[in-house]
Amino acid sequence: MEQLANIQALRAWRGNIAGSLGFVPTMGALHEGHAALINRSTAENEHTIVSVFVNPTQFGPGEDLHKYPRTLEADIALCDRHGVSAVFTPNSALMYPAGFTTWVTVEGLTDKLCGRTRPGHFRGVATVVAKLFNLVQPTRAYFGQKDAQQALVLTRMARDLDMPLAVITCPTVREPDGLAMSSRNRYLDARDRMRALSIYRALQAAETGLAAGEADVPTLKRTMWTELEGNVDRVDYVEIVDAADLGSMETIDRPALVAIAAFVGSTRLIDNIILSP
Ligand code: PAJ
Repeated sequence: MEQLANIQALRAWRGNIAGSLGFVPTMGALHEGHAALINRSTAENEHTIVSVFVNPTQFGPGEDLHKYPRTLEADIALCDRHGVSAVFTPNSALMYPAGFTTWVTVEGLTDKLCGRTRPGHFRGVATVVAKLFNLVQPTRAYFGQKDAQQALVLTRMARDLDMPLAVITCPTVREPDGLAMSSRNRYLDARDRMRALSIYRALQAAETGLAAGEADVPTLKRTMWTELEGNVDRVDYVEIVDAADLGSMETIDRPALVAIAAFVGSTRLIDNIILSP
């Protein structure tokens, strides 16, 4: 496995490989969720490259950029075990040299859900992923449904800007008890870990409600709030929106994205499921 720490090394490696290339962009602190994307990529492509870069432009002031978990050695070992061909590990000075002023903004999709309380977040995500796509020139790129809005935004970006690759969204990987795997789960102590499970229970409550015939969105959202209250410390949002474009809906009469963002202690967790009528 190659370790590529700068742009010249990446371009040289890219110029020398033949056949399809799968790409898994990450911020490191890799877990089984990331591994599932890697496995899908190695199954579908002759080569797979993983990037590990904690992208400063997608963190807001007061967010966890500086304490974001950094476990590069273990990340490289995980990539190696999963048959990755190369790991790209640039730093901020390489990705954002002095005088950097070009941004990618995906409108509409980004002013809802996470975009509402994290202004600028998706501009940072879209910009770094556009840069990574230009550098890596992948055949296919893999993203997780765990970050549903991010996957929609990046699919839209690639389509709108005619980027010559396929954007593929993969299912959310969960712990045995249902908690969605996340690099930020490392911040949780045993008690917080228990309380965080209420997020998945709230999603399941919506699923159970719909299965019992309740398709009214405000009613389902109230059920979800009840599950969260007293468990999480602060709810950022509880939303049920059109799964295709995040548009609002009053009743689940088409595929719906049921999504939660909530704080457990100072850790912000997100999770979602798709429900169909
Ligand atoms: P990161 O949070 O490291 O996630 C990298 C990829 O792994 C994303 O596509 C994310 O959706 C996916 N992922 C995370 N947890 C998952 C889980 N439990 N199941 C399935 N997939 C999961 O998302 C980012 O990094 C960044 O925003 C990035 C796209 C790299 C741009 O900086």
